[in-house]
Amino acid sequence: MQLRLAAIVAVVVLFFSATSDAHNITSILAKFPEFSTFNHYLTETHLAEDINNRETITVCAVDNSGMSDLLAKHLPISGIKNVLSLHVLLDYFDAKKLHQITNGTALAATMYQATGSAAGSSGFVNITDMKGGKVGFSPKDSSGVIHATFVKSVQAIPYNISVIQISNILPSYEVEAPTPAPSQQNLTAIMSSHGCKVFAETLLANPAEKTYEDAVDGGLTIFCPGDDAMKNFLPKYKNLTAAGKQDLLEFHGMPVYQSLSGLKSSNGLTNSLATDGASKYDFTVQNDGTEVTLKTKLVTAKIIDTIIDEQPLAIFSLNKVLLPEELFKLAPTPAPAPAPEADADAPAPSKKKHKSPPAPAAPSDSPADAPDGDAADQTADGNGSVGYNGGRFVAVILTIWFVFLQL
Ligand SMILES: *[C@@H]1O[C@H](CO)[C@@H](O)[C@H](O)[C@H]1NC(C)=O
Ligand SMILES: *[C@@H]1O[C@H](CO)[C@@H](O)[C@H](O)[C@H]1NC(C)=O
Ligand SMILES: *[C@@H]1O[C@H](CO)[C@@H](O)[C@H](O)[C@H]1NC(C)=O
Ligand SMILES: *[C@@H]1O[C@H](CO)[C@@H](O)[C@H](O)[C@H]1NC(C)=O
Ligand SMILES: *[C@@H]1O[C@H](CO)[C@@H](O)[C@H](O)[C@H]1NC(C)=O
Ligand SMILES: *[C@@H]1O[C@H](CO)[C@@H](O)[C@H](O)[C@H]1NC(C)=O
Ligand SMILES: *[C@@H]1O[C@H](CO)[C@@H](O)[C@H](O)[C@H]1NC(C)=O
Repeated sequence: MQLRLAAIVAVVVLFFSATSDAHNITSILAKFPEFSTFNHYLTETHLAEDINNRETITVCAVDNSGMSDLLAKHLPISGIKNVLSLHVLLDYFDAKKLHQITNGTALAATMYQATGSAAGSSGFVNITDMKGGKVGFSPKDSSGVIHATFVKSVQAIPYNISVIQISNILPSYEVEAPTPAPSQQNLTAIMSSHGCKVFAETLLANPAEKTYEDAVDGGLTIFCPGDDAMKNFLPKYKNLTAAGKQDLLEFHGMPVYQSLSGLKSSNGLTNSLATDGASKYDFTVQNDGTEVTLKTKLVTAKIIDTIIDEQPLAIFSLNKVLLPEELFKLAPTPAPAPAPEADADAPAPSKKKHKSPPAPAAPSDSPADAPDGDAADQTADGNGSVGYNGGRFVAVILTIWFVFLQL
């Protein structure tokens, strides 16, 4: 009896453990009260999410007294984020590797450098092996001054994440300067310089631009189609009415801030800036674990790049234009044929459907999701990836029920 119970518990544990193989910096540091302030600010600045999403990374933590030196500077949260992101090295350094650096010195790229806000070489940390087995850390170009030293290894999971303690916060004048608040940033300029120039220019010529600007402070996520997709779409765009043009552009904004990891953990229907009462203008966010797609009945677009991700603003680029069914179903065509025919971006209509439910494990990214324009599509859309987790959940419930029967 005991044995059987143990076996069943083991099965249940297996079911759950299979879902959690990625590291979690928050729970790693939670075991060490001396890093509670550092840990708190990793969460507050959303750096924790970025750290969890990366592999081969080193977090240089400082203890609570080291953090109080930083907090005494009264930087805004964006300044604290910059400073802390300089403490996340984009390579794996555990105690052993730190003490065996080739030629005794190395430059490590940091998360600050990866944000693109770093000018020149300011996002690099110089690691130097010193006399007596010490290891020094300094921002690059510190003209020979060592600012912090290695204290101890906190946790190492080769070669995914190494968490080490260093003696104090690395200073850097430039890093401490806060990045301008998103509302002061020029949305169209950011998009233009990151592969969404056509979309940005289209937006600039439309009242929708103001809608975007006004939404930033409350939280905004923009999905901008890349230049190739947008160029191909322009003839159809020009055919829309003035209101239709504005709706189409506003359809590419979501009135909340969502990081990529947030999107990855939130499948389902979502509103857009074009949503107005009965005019739903919504789309479905769907993941297959690595890729995030946005779906309407007419098109499945994929996120191909993160252009900016700083609360309260995130901008991602898409490989396709999102086509709302509100606009393209009702497109004024002389022929009685359904609107999708006028749309080259949409997959060819498919007859298969209605009868067979989608296979549970397959993320539905196939032409089977093509528009044949009725409510049945909606049902199929939301269910694709839910099925797998649902199956696991049912299995666990059954197992627990089985345990009760045995008792
Ligand atoms: C390292 O990360 C990968 C991908 O997240 C994961 O599959 C693997 O199990 C991790 N390794 C360890 C030792 O945690
Ligand atoms: C990481 O751990 C913290 C606390 O242990 C938890 O609140 C958080 O949801 C976890 N994050 C992920 C992505 O699992
Ligand atoms: C180490 O130093 C040698 C000679 O100065 C140089 O050729 C080599 O590229 C250096 N290696 C690294 C990893 O910097
Ligand atoms: C790192 O700093 C030390 C000490 O200032 C210096 O000698 C070394 O050249 C620097 N290393 C690199 C790669 O910049
Ligand atoms: C933002 O940048 C665009 C160029 O992409 C420019 O035309 C526009 O005037 C700028 N807006 C502001 C408010 O600076
Ligand atoms: C634009 O509308 C006209 C008339 O409604 C139609 O003939 C033409 O095919 C449309 N063009 C595009 C690119 O949809
Ligand atoms: C899944 O499909 C069923 C009908 O087959 C529907 O009742 C349910 O709401 C769907 N779930 C989701 C998350 O869309």
